[in-house]
Amino acid sequence: MTAEAIAPERPAALQARYGERAVPETGPWNQTIETILAHRSVRAYRSTPVPAGTLETLVAAAQSAPTSSNLQTWSVVSVTDPATRATLAEVANNQLHIVQCPLFLVWLADLSRTERMGKERSVTLEGLPYLETFLVAAIDAALAAQNAVVAAESLGLSTVYIGALRNDPQRVAAELNLPEGAAAMFGLCIGYADPARPAEVKPRLPQSVVLHRGRYDFSQEAPVRTSYDRTMAAFSERNEMARSSWTDRVFSRLTTIANLNGRDRLRTALGVLGFPLR
Ligand SMILES: Cc1cc2nc3c(=O)[nH]c(=O)nc-3n(C[C@H](O)[C@H](O)[C@H](O)COP(=O)(O)O)c2cc1C
Repeated sequence: MTAEAIAPERPAALQARYGERAVPETGPWNQTIETILAHRSVRAYRSTPVPAGTLETLVAAAQSAPTSSNLQTWSVVSVTDPATRATLAEVANNQLHIVQCPLFLVWLADLSRTERMGKERSVTLEGLPYLETFLVAAIDAALAAQNAVVAAESLGLSTVYIGALRNDPQRVAAELNLPEGAAAMFGLCIGYADPARPAEVKPRLPQSVVLHRGRYDFSQEAPVRTSYDRTMAAFSERNEMARSSWTDRVFSRLTTIANLNGRDRLRTALGVLGFPLR
């Protein structure tokens, strides 16, 4: 039996992700990989609520992610109150899907629990204030959230991360009553995609640019990026009407401090929230 006979969706999934000219070789294939490759961020949701128990299933998926030294230094807040949602949307440059999606989760790097444990036993945790420990918490939160994303998408739900909550982590912390040592890393909208505003799978860089075999080698990178720029310009024209290449997008995100939307002050904000980042 050929691979195509086993998984007829495979070529289509890879073409959507890489374009026809950059389809990579693949090995064994299954429905889990199919689900992961079909990911696309969705920014328009139906008001239909998610089924009862979905939140708990997603959190179980999240808690099944690996966690550095089993420290479990993350938490998640499910935000239901419309006024709180509105404030969070305001922090995030008025992204309406934050208000509209049936489930909105805020993922926290959370060292407050660890700190409480130390205080209870009168143990000084000297490693707590270090950048390393913050990174552990931030990485754990991201891994957990991405497990929830894959689980949600496997159930036919759609998602979009909201990094724009980091525009003002102090306002988010005040709104969610976060203790010292907890900070929002990003939000996550979850719900059923509005079929009137479908989202397309967004092509990624060809694997030759991101996959290095043995040693890092960027000698062939520039022409591959040029070709990807054309792919992404066509994608953006199809999906958003404005024709802009990937390079354009990368530059517009990073050429000015103003475009960081307040996140240039993140180190200070995290300091105030209990992360000295030594
Ligand atoms: C940590 C993180 C934060 C993000 N923040 C936002 C956001 O604030 N608003 C938004 O519309 N998309 C956000 N995104 C979605 C990205 O723009 C999206 O993943 C990227 O353009 C690739 O598109 P795709 O997810 O459809 O493949 C975020 C993604 C990640 C991983």
